[in-house]
Amino acid sequence: MKLSENAIKVLEKRYLEKNEDGNLIEDVEGMFKRVAKAIASADENYTDKAGIEKIEMEFYEMMANLEFLPNSPTLMNAGRPLGQLSACFVLPVEDTMEGIFESIKNAALIHKSGGGTGFSFSRLRPKGSAVNSTGGVASGPISFMKVFNAATEAVKQGGTRRGANMGILRVDHPDIMEFITCKKDNSEITNFNLSVGITEDFMKAVEYNLEYELIDPKTKKPVGKLNAKKVFDLIVEMAWKNGEPGIIFLDRLNRDNVTPKLGEIESTNPCGEQPLLPYEACNLGSINLYNMLNEEKDSLDFDKLAETVKKAVHFLDNVIEANKYPLAEIDKMTRGTRKIGLGVMGWADMLCALNISYNSQQAIELADKVMGFIQDNAQKASQELAEQKGAFPYYEESVFAKKGIKLRNATTTTIAPTGTLSLIAGVSSGIEPIFAISYIRNVMDNNELVEVNPVFKNAAVKGNFYSDELMKQIAKSGTVKHMEEIPKEVRDVFVTAHDVRPEWHVKMQAAFQRHTDNAVSKTVNLSHDATTDDVREVFTLAYRAQCKGVTIYRDGSRDLQVLNIGKVQ
Ligand code: CDP
Repeated sequence: MKLSENAIKVLEKRYLEKNEDGNLIEDVEGMFKRVAKAIASADENYTDKAGIEKIEMEFYEMMANLEFLPNSPTLMNAGRPLGQLSACFVLPVEDTMEGIFESIKNAALIHKSGGGTGFSFSRLRPKGSAVNSTGGVASGPISFMKVFNAATEAVKQGGTRRGANMGILRVDHPDIMEFITCKKDNSEITNFNLSVGITEDFMKAVEYNLEYELIDPKTKKPVGKLNAKKVFDLIVEMAWKNGEPGIIFLDRLNRDNVTPKLGEIESTNPCGEQPLLPYEACNLGSINLYNMLNEEKDSLDFDKLAETVKKAVHFLDNVIEANKYPLAEIDKMTRGTRKIGLGVMGWADMLCALNISYNSQQAIELADKVMGFIQDNAQKASQELAEQKGAFPYYEESVFAKKGIKLRNATTTTIAPTGTLSLIAGVSSGIEPIFAISYIRNVMDNNELVEVNPVFKNAAVKGNFYSDELMKQIAKSGTVKHMEEIPKEVRDVFVTAHDVRPEWHVKMQAAFQRHTDNAVSKTVNLSHDATTDDVREVFTLAYRAQCKGVTIYRDGSRDLQVLNIGKVQ
């Protein structure tokens, strides 16, 4: 198994099983075996012992060859007592004291198990409105969000990974201005990503520079008006300042809600890629596209990809069975719709190996082709599973019933960020461009290590221009854009996130969205000197290109940047 030192370190620290003294009792191979066994066992009612063993072997090989990896909670918890396997949850926040604190409790239980939670705070009555029982006034959604945030902070210390939340407020909620600016000071509400829930009506009002109505969620009555363009400009300005809030297009999430009879979609998971109904959970998994190339690494092996999609859908469907859900309501909803989210990672590395620039029409066309292929095959696999095991229980309530398409899963595809998965697999994350061609990592006893993108290293060795000195030189800026000593064809292909102009980021996101049931996790990177007009342009492009939401990040705009070019801890 070819895992980097970094990957092994992360796995040992957080994923591999330890005894009470904190000593490791499994290795990486052991982890994949544990996971394969637990997930294959969900087929016990459908096949015999030999059949289970065969499935187990298939699952194991797919993971050990780094062709497919399930989301982190599955790797951490499958076959272990906790058994919570999903990364994504959405919880309702009702407009009562009981409802609010019930939700905080449930979120804590989910965070403890490695899952992330999304909430819409839109049902909460606005700040200053009456509270009948006490005669007092309500504190409003933003002050309650701070309580959710503090609870997350406290649980963080005990869990396997930092608790993450998504907080959404509808743009027509009376407290929207406070929401948009509430992370102006970056030390506030740090365990939340925030997105404004945008409506089509609002976007029309922006276009025609009109006012729009603010609605009190309790009384459903208009209580004020704002100029849409001014609100939009404020979102843009705040996002320019420090990347938040993002925006999500609520009407689009609901246009693609395949079970509208079960309720409205109000929120997504923390990174925005998975819209869910209240109390719904979803488990994700990603195919490593770099490992879907042929042996020569010069063309995509579509047969292998089709095979892997089929096995991955089977795997993720089994995760729904093997999963131990933290709440009875979640158990019911999640088993009822059986949503899964199959996505990809290593997209940029794959493009580089194929000598295709990320920021090119050719790459966009390939994105349509590859994701279209994955989507078709995932649906086909879900249909085959439905024939064998039955359609998802809420099928009759779904839009598929009318069409007569029996599926095992209400959704099959999602593009996750693959923050840790891509690190384990040693490839570029999700559908993002390469972040840096090489960078310097501080290792123990203050030694510095130059990490080089493996695909670039191959190209450099093949092209006869590899040297340690050159790699060190590249690490200073991360990019090879201006390095004349590197052949131009190579520089054109090995573009980094900052070399790619924002519109290409959006085009790529839109291409993947066209073939994805759920949503696409993507950050549109902007250079430090980008203007608010640039941010507005990105938001508008994303809206026109039918994206379901958009997040931007202007380089250096936050004091604490996780991945700094030049130096990575
Ligand atoms: O790579 P990995 O499976 O660890 O996760 P990811 O693809 O980066 O993130 C997928 C989802 O996992 C996020 O959208 C969150 O719902 C959840 N997550 C979380 O709850 N806490 C984190 N620290 C990271 C991710």
